[in-house]
Amino acid sequence: MRPICSSHKTQIPMKMKKKHEVDRLTNLVRDKVDAHQASLAMDIGAGQGYLTYMLAISQVPMVAVDSDSHQTCGSKARLLKNSPEIGDKVLHLTQKLDTDSLVGLVDRIDRGAVPEVDKMISSNTSRSSYVVTGLHACGDLSSAMVESFIRDQRIRALVGVGCCYNLLTEGDLSHPNCIFGFPLSSKVKSWFEEHDFGFGPRTRGLACQVSIEAVSLTQLRHMLEGTYYRSLLNYVFSDLKLDGPRTDEGHLRIKRLPHEAYDSFVLYAQHALSKVGMSGAVDEATLRRYDEQNRHMLQAMQLIYMTRALLGPIIENVILVDRALRLQESASAAGTDVEVALLNLFDAESSPRNMVLVAEKPRLCRESTDAELQSA
Ligand SMILES: C[S@@+](CC[C@H](N)C(=O)[O-])C[C@H]1O[C@@H](n2cnc3c(N)ncnc32)[C@H](O)[C@@H]1O
Repeated sequence: MRPICSSHKTQIPMKMKKKHEVDRLTNLVRDKVDAHQASLAMDIGAGQGYLTYMLAISQVPMVAVDSDSHQTCGSKARLLKNSPEIGDKVLHLTQKLDTDSLVGLVDRIDRGAVPEVDKMISSNTSRSSYVVTGLHACGDLSSAMVESFIRDQRIRALVGVGCCYNLLTEGDLSHPNCIFGFPLSSKVKSWFEEHDFGFGPRTRGLACQVSIEAVSLTQLRHMLEGTYYRSLLNYVFSDLKLDGPRTDEGHLRIKRLPHEAYDSFVLYAQHALSKVGMSGAVDEATLRRYDEQNRHMLQAMQLIYMTRALLGPIIENVILVDRALRLQESASAAGTDVEVALLNLFDAESSPRNMVLVAEKPRLCRESTDAELQSA
């Protein structure tokens, strides 16, 4: 096995948070590629290709797939500009993936129907062994990775970090034959069914909320005060029946205000009124009275925010445990052995989506690989 580095040298600039995540994930994925003698790893929802790049400079042949051609082109151009010597180790594809198309792609690669891949693969690796990975694979993309791992024996390991849980399609349990991104496991499905329960996008959205640990108290106070000021000004406008520019949802349209506007509600309202050409439409004493009468709402908002922030990790854990359960249930139904783990891979303070789902099929000895996979 290649030595695991704690930090890779890179010419591609990355924010600290991304670098921390990509470094750790690279080590883990590379470990799985080595352990399963995989011929390549597939970065699903590769985006700007940071993970692809780091794995490629660690000598892992990579297929990077993203549905957005801007991402694919940007990723390819950056890689060729910074490290042209690894250009032939990476294939960039623009494709929107679901379970069927991901399995189809593995199949095409394995049949030698993707000529670029043949040039990338070393003869020391097993043709029919692949590792699928994704960093912040949003919504149903993570579910597709789980289902593809279950369906295709040639995907020997899965290393995935999810995100954007609000984008998941959630199953209507009265239509059990439809395919949804959540819930996947029988356990969570039957639990939902028993309690006539579901999450819905707003609840799942809580799982994407920034955790309490990730924001300082000062940041939190400013954020909530800003929301309180905006809501109160909306209320003042509707209470006094004032006209003003509106968003499609009917809220007052207030453009960016300077920092000093946030020192008090009166200042905020005065800046906002002047911005929409209504300076003096509400006098200072009236604004102050509205603030005094409604200040208690700021406390209520703090409580709501805290409750949401505390619920977020619970919702996220249900979604992640559901994926892990689906992997375990399908392995035990098929009588096969699959190792499943949820690891706290990243520092939770800087990377709120810090849990990585790892699934591995038993490691095959090279001689038996083809025979075993063909009989599977
Ligand atoms: C949150 S970004 C993560 C990008 C990258 N992995 C990273 O960590 O920087 C998710 C990416 O997945 C891509 N994506 C979303 N749904 C997809 C799908 N069904 N098939 C392929 N790519 C998809 C998006 O275009 C986006 O670039």
